[in-house]
Amino acid sequence: MLTPSFLLLSLFVAGGFGKLYDNAADLPGFKYDFVIVGGGTAGNVLANRLTENPKVSVLLLEAGVSNQGILPSEVPFRLSELFAPSVWNWNYTSTPQTGLLQRTLAVGRAHFLGGCSGHNGMAFTRGAAAEFDHYAQLTGDQGWSWNNLYPYFLKSEKWSPPADGHDTTGQFNPAVHGKSGPISVSLNGYQYPEFSSKVIATTKQSPNDWPFNLDMNSGKPLGVSYLQSSIGNGERSTSATGYLAAQYIQRSNLHVLVNSQVSKLVNSTQKSGKLSFGGVQFQSGNKLYTAQAQKEIILSAGVIGSVQVLQNSGVGPKATLAAAGVPTLLDLPSVGQNVTEHPTFFIVWSVNSTDTQEKVTKNATAFAEAQAQWNTSRTGPFVTSPLGTHVGFKRLPANSSAFAAHGDPQPNPSVPHLEFIFIPGGQLSSTIVLPANATNFMSIAVSLRAPISRGSININSNDPFAHPLIDVGLLKEESDVLALKDATAMALNFAAQPAWKGYIEQLITTGLDDATIETTIRSIASQSFHISGSNQMSPIGASYGVVDPDFRVKGVSGLSVIDVSTLPLITAAHTQAVTYVFAERGADLIKKRWNC
Ligand SMILES: Cc1cc2nc3c(=O)[nH]c(=O)nc-3n(C[C@H](O)[C@H](O)[C@H](O)COP(=O)(O)OP(=O)(O)OC[C@H]3O[C@@H](n4cnc5c(N)ncnc54)[C@H](O)[C@@H]3O)c2cc1C
Ligand SMILES: *[C@@H]1O[C@H](CO)[C@@H](O)[C@H](O)[C@H]1NC(C)=O
Ligand SMILES: *[C@@H]1O[C@H](CO)[C@@H](O)[C@H](O)[C@H]1NC(C)=O
Ligand SMILES: *[C@@H]1O[C@H](CO)[C@@H](O)[C@H](O)[C@H]1NC(C)=O
Ligand SMILES: *[C@@H]1O[C@H](CO)[C@@H](O)[C@H](O)[C@H]1NC(C)=O
Ligand SMILES: *[C@@H]1O[C@H](CO)[C@@H](O)[C@H](O)[C@H]1NC(C)=O
Ligand SMILES: *[C@@H]1O[C@H](CO)[C@@H](O)[C@H](O)[C@H]1NC(C)=O
Ligand SMILES: *[C@@H]1O[C@H](CO)[C@@H](O)[C@H](O)[C@H]1NC(C)=O
Ligand SMILES: *[C@@H]1O[C@H](CO)[C@@H](O)[C@H](O)[C@H]1NC(C)=O
Repeated sequence: MLTPSFLLLSLFVAGGFGKLYDNAADLPGFKYDFVIVGGGTAGNVLANRLTENPKVSVLLLEAGVSNQGILPSEVPFRLSELFAPSVWNWNYTSTPQTGLLQRTLAVGRAHFLGGCSGHNGMAFTRGAAAEFDHYAQLTGDQGWSWNNLYPYFLKSEKWSPPADGHDTTGQFNPAVHGKSGPISVSLNGYQYPEFSSKVIATTKQSPNDWPFNLDMNSGKPLGVSYLQSSIGNGERSTSATGYLAAQYIQRSNLHVLVNSQVSKLVNSTQKSGKLSFGGVQFQSGNKLYTAQAQKEIILSAGVIGSVQVLQNSGVGPKATLAAAGVPTLLDLPSVGQNVTEHPTFFIVWSVNSTDTQEKVTKNATAFAEAQAQWNTSRTGPFVTSPLGTHVGFKRLPANSSAFAAHGDPQPNPSVPHLEFIFIPGGQLSSTIVLPANATNFMSIAVSLRAPISRGSININSNDPFAHPLIDVGLLKEESDVLALKDATAMALNFAAQPAWKGYIEQLITTGLDDATIETTIRSIASQSFHISGSNQMSPIGASYGVVDPDFRVKGVSGLSVIDVSTLPLITAAHTQAVTYVFAERGADLIKKRWNC
């Protein structure tokens, strides 16, 4: 048996880590200026930025384990190994989805330092400038406009060369990227030249439908761009490897405690007519402890965790809390509502090529060689995300039947409704069965980035450690299925361009004809893992929403939520870039209000 202090020492020696505590009994104290709940994508940004001032003390509580030595997290290509139930995963299951023929989904959420930035697909997309201008309108706060957020996009990012050192001219726009932030972002460092050149040829053969876009992160995402990923040096870049790198985690004013799940907020009082919590209760080594925040408690436990802590603490919809046996301290009806997720499915083809991801995924010798190559030189097929080579953002056609019931959900014609991800392989979809008589595949991931459907997250027990009910709400609204029907036609149009003749052999995803497509979509659609909005930001004084535009929980003093749960509306993009930016601006707002 290793003692906690021995563990601490060995981590320090092995990983260059500073003060990473494994057990609350080893903490020097329980009083801090700020207590941050959740060492995930957003939480680590806050821990870093708030401790830039050596006078400010921070305790960061993470339920999961340390991120050190989790090989499938470090090796970009191996991320899907993190999805099976393990100590690295919260093992959540959704409620039966009414829009998906009552299927349940394994809702992936990471259970280690770095949170979902440590097991996500690494695709790095900001969204459209007009979406953030819409945020400013939705929240009544100009601070959320594209121009005002742009410096934060740059601040969090470190544009990095690809692992293969290829010439990246014409593959991105250097002018729109940050150079010295904590999160490395790069173009793919391993190529599938045959596939990639066919994607680019398609943009030339069909420039009206599939125009080439030099850089989807310029604020104008429409078109087909080279994939950018949170990868540097052939390794995954996460909020833990970036914002908690050795020089930050070693700060004496920052204490990071892993294996410590927060149960609820305690020691409630009324402060000038507002509810206030004096303490954060958490479990460590089978014991309950309480830490105090002298300035503020910050919930960064993610789209599920932050809701659960609020509801466990008596802040949420009164009827939900009453049914779960939790006394209501503040009836805040929006906590856990308006949950939004992007439905995605895969169209897969078998192809006449051996240069696809299957050359490593289906060949144990090649797989071991790729790992050895990654180990020795951080090059080869394992340095890229399995997500593919390019992404395409598209609008639905103006006459789409998807708009009949609710109109166009997007604020402006520069904002996409759909994303297509082009993948030289067939392994990513869990709902498409690959035939045994073919060896190599390609896929297009088809995703609706402007869904109308909404779900919810609600506790149904007063055991603070029980899983809540998670309804991701996929395809509840018929219009979302109609949108995906149009999207399917677009993806098939892409693959019908001359570039793919002689390459594509056979369509593997069947049932896409008019008569069956709706049932097919409901049978094969799944998550994008972008769930957000469960603690929605809304204007000061609004009758709905959970946090004000400065992240303060409405009706509570000294409590903020800062993570992807606070998005006023889901972005038409992957959600990690916006999470980093919300956390960066959140840190500045907190520094300003405490003058620290
Ligand atoms: C499988 C998957 C693939 C994805 N792919 C992409 C992609 O390719 N590109 C992209 O941009 N986005 C992607 N995303 C989405 C993106 O990663 C998330 O939206 C984002 O990371 C969320 O950040 P967060 O800070 O809100 O939450 P998280 O990063 O989940 O952080 C929450 C942290 O809080 C901890 N926690 C929870 N409850 C408690 C508690 N009670 N006490 C203490 N700690 C607690 C958790 O363990 C976790 O570490 C993906 C997500 C997943 C899951
Ligand atoms: C998830 O399930 C696995 C396998 O059952 C288990 O070992 C692991 O501890 C679970 N994760 C959590 C966070 O409880
Ligand atoms: C805070 O609440 C915890 C848990 O309920 C309790 O043990 C502790 O005594 C309280 N502390 C104060 C100062 O009231
Ligand atoms: C959900 O969000 C919309 C605005 O997008 C708002 O009008 C509505 O009241 C919210 N619902 C809840 C339950 O908070
Ligand atoms: C598997 O990979 C090894 C090593 O790269 C290679 O020599 C072998 O030909 C491959 N096998 C098949 C069936 O492609
Ligand atoms: C690569 O390195 C990891 C971690 O150090 C090790 O576990 C693994 O065995 C190595 N694999 C190969 C093929 O060298
Ligand atoms: C939408 O318009 C296009 C031409 O722009 C036409 O081909 C298509 O049939 C129309 N679709 C519907 C549903 O009206
Ligand atoms: C593979 O098998 C399917 C039937 O399962 C058949 O339709 C298809 O033509 C076969 N493909 C090849 C390449 O042999
Ligand atoms: C597969 O591609 C090769 C050339 O790369 C070609 O000779 C062959 O005809 C193709 N096969 C089919 C079935 O298209």
